[in-house]
Amino acid sequence: MRSTQTGDLWWKTAVFYCLDVQTFCDSNGDGVGDFAGLADRLDHLVELGVTVIWLMPFYPTADVDDGYDITDYYTVDPRLGTLGDFVEFMRSANSRGLRVIADLVVNHTSAKHPWFQSARSAAESPYRDWYVWRDEPGPEKPGDVVFPDRETSIWTKDRKAGQYYLHRFYRSQPDLNVANPAVRDEIARVMGFWMRLGLSGFRVDAVPFLLETTGIEGGAEGLPQPHQYLRDLRAFLGRRSGDAILLGEVNLPFEQARAFFGDEDGDELTMLFDFPTMQAMYLGLARSDAGPIRSALLARPHNPADSQWAVFARNHDELTLDKLSGAERQEVFAAFGPDEGVQVYGRGLRRRLPPMLGGDQRRIRLVYSLMMSLPGTPTLFYGEEIGMGENLDLPSRMAVRTPMQWRSGKLGGFSTAADPDLLCRPFPGPPYSPDEINVVAQRHDPDSLFSFVRERIRCYRECPELGWGAVSVLEHDVPSALVHRSDWLGRSLLLCHNLADTEVTVRLSLPAEPPRTRCVDLFDRAVQLPISPDGALEVTLPAYGGRWFRLLTGESSDLL
Ligand code: GLC
Repeated sequence: MRSTQTGDLWWKTAVFYCLDVQTFCDSNGDGVGDFAGLADRLDHLVELGVTVIWLMPFYPTADVDDGYDITDYYTVDPRLGTLGDFVEFMRSANSRGLRVIADLVVNHTSAKHPWFQSARSAAESPYRDWYVWRDEPGPEKPGDVVFPDRETSIWTKDRKAGQYYLHRFYRSQPDLNVANPAVRDEIARVMGFWMRLGLSGFRVDAVPFLLETTGIEGGAEGLPQPHQYLRDLRAFLGRRSGDAILLGEVNLPFEQARAFFGDEDGDELTMLFDFPTMQAMYLGLARSDAGPIRSALLARPHNPADSQWAVFARNHDELTLDKLSGAERQEVFAAFGPDEGVQVYGRGLRRRLPPMLGGDQRRIRLVYSLMMSLPGTPTLFYGEEIGMGENLDLPSRMAVRTPMQWRSGKLGGFSTAADPDLLCRPFPGPPYSPDEINVVAQRHDPDSLFSFVRERIRCYRECPELGWGAVSVLEHDVPSALVHRSDWLGRSLLLCHNLADTEVTVRLSLPAEPPRTRCVDLFDRAVQLPISPDGALEVTLPAYGGRWFRLLTGESSDLL
């Protein structure tokens, strides 16, 4: 049976929503979000049209990297609830038809993890070889340090161990040695544990670093082939649950990223975040020119049929611009973050979208219209649906991780913060404070950003062409307009976006086959545009406007 009819590949037409339990909803008034609070808010996600929740790390942590430094892989951070609360949340999510995936952070552990504590304590420790040790600092290239604000090397000497250990991120995050089969077994055990509790897969953190062999040649048996390891992980996942996914963080140029999907059957990562197109989108916005997005879409490698790109505008990290050239990056900095205080690591901006676009609703909506219509599966970061801003008083990337703004008032719906962790995260002031931006105010307002995003998601879900279709980028002579088309099982969509602040008219020439006579505007169905017999079509796009059309033949009004 064709998978298009069974929903086996559910993630092809999904809407992912990333959230951090600790900043989402606080049920018990201690100032920290928790699983019970999240369970209370699932209807918000259902109303928005989200189909998959991606949970940022919720495990016990030393909290140097906001949860990405784990001290126990098999339970829940007690500040967020209990394992029982997790299971209740899963039950509530599943009963609403929501799937859940979680961050799998296994490139490294926290230095406080008992495995590392044992490893450093004695050369004979059974955990010694779970990490990567050297008597002298190992090889290092410029750019290897991921967080250059705090680290100068990826090798740090541990005084107790008397050796250097590898850490691609902070020194408090020692890299696990995946060349050691015992480590690989343990990673599988962790995955199996959470899948047994109902997860539909994982967002795999820092995949290229997990696979890298820097410094680990000569590990217990050596890691034969990095990509063989990914294939093994995927096969294990498939054995435990046939339709579970691995969504990988692979921030590499397209030429290198393609390999992470695996062979033509897609036997490695199920989905990859599309970092290059995301970065091209910001360059395009800065220039009011669709050229960069066009080029990115044309350069994007063809993905295997049973795999998918994940499309996003913002996430929990800095808006990384590392795939742009130095000059291009400066252009984006000048447009969206000229102040050095918002630039981080020399490569990105610690900002959310609305303040970068000066709060211009037309441009903000353009981005979400584009994002829902680009080939791939859209992924939202919590708060994007209401246009939350960042808080630059907070250090580094924490600026974009402020609590969800449910309603007006100092804490935006969060209970009185008794916890110092949240007290050090005050809310941004006007115009992005919870008094101006909150869920309650936007839910019933048909003109709100929330309503706009909900409507685009609804339409995206009604148009499986967007997830499944063959995509082509159309030629025309309006530089600010991106027009692409998605064809699937005889159905066709035309997606048109204008990145300039003036109205434009785009003249298109559609192929004669299959014959199309008109197209209907999916957001204003009374509007139909004629297509002449030779395929000519004229589309007018408002300043920063996006229009989605379905191409139709004859008098047929099916699929309107
Ligand atoms: C990933 C995460 C980031 C984290 C890092 C180390 O890049 O997205 O937030 O700091 O990995 O785990």
